[in-house]
Amino acid sequence: MADGAILCEGVVRIFTAQGVEVQALQGLDLRMTTGEMVALVGASGSGKSTLLGILAGLDRPTAGSASVAGHDLTTMRGAERLEYRRRSVGFVWQQSARNLLPYLTARENVRMVHEVARVVPRSEREAYGDELLELLGAAEVAGKRPAEMSGGQRQRVAIAVALANRPRALLADEPTGELDEQTSAEVLGAMETVNRERGVTTLIVTHDASVTEHVERTVRIRDGRTSTETLRRTSTDDDGRSVRTAQEYAVLDRAGRMQLPADFVSALDLRERVRLTLEPDHVRVAPGQHASRNDARDANGDAS
Ligand SMILES: Nc1ncnc2c1ncn2[C@@H]1O[C@H](COP(=O)(O)OP(=O)(O)OP(=O)(O)O)[C@@H](O)[C@H]1O
Ligand SMILES: [Mg+2]
Repeated sequence: MADGAILCEGVVRIFTAQGVEVQALQGLDLRMTTGEMVALVGASGSGKSTLLGILAGLDRPTAGSASVAGHDLTTMRGAERLEYRRRSVGFVWQQSARNLLPYLTARENVRMVHEVARVVPRSEREAYGDELLELLGAAEVAGKRPAEMSGGQRQRVAIAVALANRPRALLADEPTGELDEQTSAEVLGAMETVNRERGVTTLIVTHDASVTEHVERTVRIRDGRTSTETLRRTSTDDDGRSVRTAQEYAVLDRAGRMQLPADFVSALDLRERVRLTLEPDHVRVAPGQHASRNDARDANGDAS
């Protein structure tokens, strides 16, 4: 299948509002292989939506490189950008009302994308649209308008609409933000099914802790940079039961930079200077002298 990789390297996005500069992304790295499904988490204001806007071709990075399915998002101009949005990416927003046209039924919303994107041949559109709604468990609302659907049904239809142009990548910004726990789990499950069956590279921004059940990789951003990644595996134990294990890793960028977890920093009162020691199989980080206390003492400390 065609390449659907997402590659970001050192992505910077600076907004200037009323003379004040906000560094929303500060050198973010992210690599996703074709067909991978990743959850993107992080505190409010950490830059998640900014990243999705860039990947969706709606916004441009201030610096760094970003590409999706072979399209360079930093150099792309008008017509190519429009083509990219029409044919290569699908997008789902948190507000279900923003995803669908209120006066059209689910089936008509999907058809609308077909008309605009013109990716799926005319003769295949009807069957393809119904197949998508079926795959997402939204077949029973095919003839209903958004106002006649539940929140979960609206988001399932929204995902079908996002996939109608047969995109290489699906981007979803808090698609379950307005849903209760049970419905969220169902919608995330539907996304997992789509990802598995269609091989669409899927990036989901979420605050929903249960997303970990549905993805093998969770990327956390902090202050506009990827700080940690959690990888999950399902393995079989000695008794033949399947066990799910998770391991969290800090992310090291090309320049050798990484972020220490905030609770580690506060537990040892790490500030300004830390002492690094190379051990045979790990690196030790120990509190150093605080510059604010006494620079001379620090120099003495180093000599002893
Ligand atoms: N158009 C804009 N103009 C100015 N500042 C912006 C703009 N868009 C985002 N920001 C700022 O950039 C930072 C990152 O915002 P972003 O919306 O990406 O965060 P987020 O991680 O999606 O947060 P949330 O979880 O609340 O949705 C914030 O400080 C925000 O105020
Ligand atoms: Mg956001």
